[in-house]
Amino acid sequence: MSETGGWPAGHPPSVPAPVPTERQPILELRSISKHFGAVQALSSVDFEVYPAEVVALVGDNGAGKSTLVKTMAGINIPDSGEIWFEGKHVAIHGPREPAALGISTVYQDLALCDNLDVVANLYLGREEIQPPVPLLSEERMEHRAREVLTSLDVKIPSVRNPVAALSGGQRQSVAVARSVMWKAKVVMLDEPTAALGVQQTKQVLELVLRLRNQGLGVILISHNLANVFEVADRIVVLRLGRRVGTFDRSKMSEEAVVAAITGAEFGKFQPQA
Ligand SMILES: Nc1ncnc2c1ncn2[C@@H]1O[C@H](COP(=O)(O)OP(=O)(O)OP(=O)(O)O)[C@@H](O)[C@H]1O
Ligand SMILES: [Mg+2]
Repeated sequence: MSETGGWPAGHPPSVPAPVPTERQPILELRSISKHFGAVQALSSVDFEVYPAEVVALVGDNGAGKSTLVKTMAGINIPDSGEIWFEGKHVAIHGPREPAALGISTVYQDLALCDNLDVVANLYLGREEIQPPVPLLSEERMEHRAREVLTSLDVKIPSVRNPVAALSGGQRQSVAVARSVMWKAKVVMLDEPTAALGVQQTKQVLELVLRLRNQGLGVILISHNLANVFEVADRIVVLRLGRRVGTFDRSKMSEEAVVAAITGAEFGKFQPQA
């Protein structure tokens, strides 16, 4: 376990920030509420992610971050509120609908199969069938796997290695690449660097920036504010199930974000919107 302090000295992110071209959110939640028994996990929460943007979702334990992500992933069905995708109101009744829309989630436990190689993991459950004979096209799968990993600049010793032989950062990168393979437009990453060392964290955060530069909306949940400050364009703060602050990276201070997270010093550090 390591709480890394961002980039090692002398190794800033190499990817320049893109100029935003479109201001309609790809994915938008409007006034989402969700309770579990007596616990009001989310109270009228609005949330949005734009194309080519990294938005960090931060807040203390129990603030509602995972509940919000699970709502967008179709795992939690909200009590009330609306979900909009590319300007259209969409009905989400389960995980299939977000997947079909191109909303992809990478959970911390990754859901990779250790005994399978990288290619097999990238294709898990979606092996390409070559008609008319239902045979796996291994060559095509391997070619496409290399193509996707190269486009994301993910360095893996061999795509024929079982993922058990990869480092944590490489495994996380394969999990992210897996979502991008399937034409994701929004990728949600729940604590992607929590278990990683400094170099591996750097690798995953660079991948986050690459996804953004390819035009995806990236939602990053992290308790590591140093990581958040390195890559996020905007920071949305949840506290006790409510959205209590939204910060632009260019205009924020870490103290203001911490104040919003904890609920302290609100007179002193006024969050925007
Ligand atoms: N399936 C569930 N059943 C009952 N209560 C739940 C369930 N999921 C979440 N909660 C409650 O909803 C609240 C929000 O939880 P959530 O997991 O969204 O928080 P979080 O911000 O992700 O916290 P953490 O940083 O600890 O992961 C908490 O009080 C939690 O106990
Ligand atoms: Mg959580």
